[in-house]
Amino acid sequence: MTIFPGTVIRAAVLRRWLGVTSAAVPEKLGCPNLPLSPRQRELCRKKPFLLPSIQDGARLAVAECQSQFRYERWNCSTSEEPSVFGYELTTGTKETAFIYAVMAAGLVHAVTRSCSQGNMTECGCDARLQGGSPSAGGWHWGGCSDHIQYGTWFSRKFIDNGVKNVSTTGGGYTLATMNQHNSEAGRQAIERTMATDCRCHGVSGSCAVKTCWRTMAAFDRVGVYLKERYERSVQVSDRSRGKTKRKDQRRLPVDKHQFIFLNKSPNYCLEDRRRGITGTRGRRCNRTSTGPDGCNLLCCGRGYNTHVVRHVQRCECKFVWCCFVRCRRCESMNDMHTCK
Ligand SMILES: *[C@@H]1O[C@H](CO)[C@@H](O)[C@H](O)[C@H]1NC(C)=O
Ligand SMILES: *[C@@H]1O[C@H](CO)[C@@H](O)[C@H](O)[C@H]1NC(C)=O
Ligand SMILES: *[C@@H]1O[C@H](CO)[C@@H](O)[C@H](O)[C@H]1NC(C)=O
Ligand SMILES: *[C@@H]1O[C@H](CO)[C@@H](O)[C@H](O)[C@H]1NC(C)=O
Repeated sequence: MTIFPGTVIRAAVLRRWLGVTSAAVPEKLGCPNLPLSPRQRELCRKKPFLLPSIQDGARLAVAECQSQFRYERWNCSTSEEPSVFGYELTTGTKETAFIYAVMAAGLVHAVTRSCSQGNMTECGCDARLQGGSPSAGGWHWGGCSDHIQYGTWFSRKFIDNGVKNVSTTGGGYTLATMNQHNSEAGRQAIERTMATDCRCHGVSGSCAVKTCWRTMAAFDRVGVYLKERYERSVQVSDRSRGKTKRKDQRRLPVDKHQFIFLNKSPNYCLEDRRRGITGTRGRRCNRTSTGPDGCNLLCCGRGYNTHVVRHVQRCECKFVWCCFVRCRRCESMNDMHTCK
């Protein structure tokens, strides 16, 4: 299984490590026991203090992928075998692109967060944005600006598995260069979504002094950005296909922020075990939605079943002095639709 490119591991171990399954985490998951490639293990051994960040980054990425795709036919579900993302890692589709980008971005985010919290000796806040006299706008840099350079460096080192320079000349991409391009687009997303936050100081919030710092966006915001990139991914030519280039494939060099893919995606409608596609049978859909979660689209026109589900909630809650909240139990019957 590949958690990060070049990482061959048993999916079950990785899923436990990421906390995707509820099974107990094996004791002592240090660098030697982890699902890492030899090169990554060596990096892990040199920088063991980054292990919690690697884990946090992977969890962040998996959770965000599943959240962004929860209403789509492909829902970013993690599979048992042969890899966490199953077949999707090797198909060279838009979905592969999203997975690589979100994993790379998650790692930058988690490492940078750790740097900003002062947990590491190798990195910290962005020293270029500290102190200084008030600028024209009457504010100055203060506090801790997120310093993404270290996280970005580490994400590159950890994920880009010694692939040669991505080249847009010489007739197209390989799966490896496509993956590396999309990982980099994911890292760029962290920089692109950074913002400046400010705080006022002064008598009763008069804002006589204002300090500002650069901060990374929350990861769900990064997820929204990556999802937009995914929607606008561009197909590039596959070097291994030689001369059978399609006309609609771009010849122009692609922007480093763009996602690229080699192969069109399947429709993800029907189960195909061989390709690790779960299909949409049994997925919950929304009868009135015209979006991807609408029954028509999600169920691929196969129709849906309607079940009545009983919903029990706490309701009419009252605060009772002091200090309880007393509620009634309310029942409601709701329709639930699932794809045939
Ligand atoms: C994705 O959909 C499948 C059914 O097609 C379901 O079994 C699985 O739990 C879903 N995964 C997530 C993460 O929602
Ligand atoms: C930083 O270290 C503290 C104390 O060890 C820990 O609670 C916190 O989770 C760490 N933060 C990160 C982002 O690793
Ligand atoms: C390609 O690799 C060389 C040496 O490894 C490096 O100096 C150069 O900046 C790289 N080019 C790009 C576009 O990354
Ligand atoms: C179904 O979709 C409609 C329209 O998009 C939305 O207003 C409604 O809240 C959705 N229902 C559920 C249960 O998600």
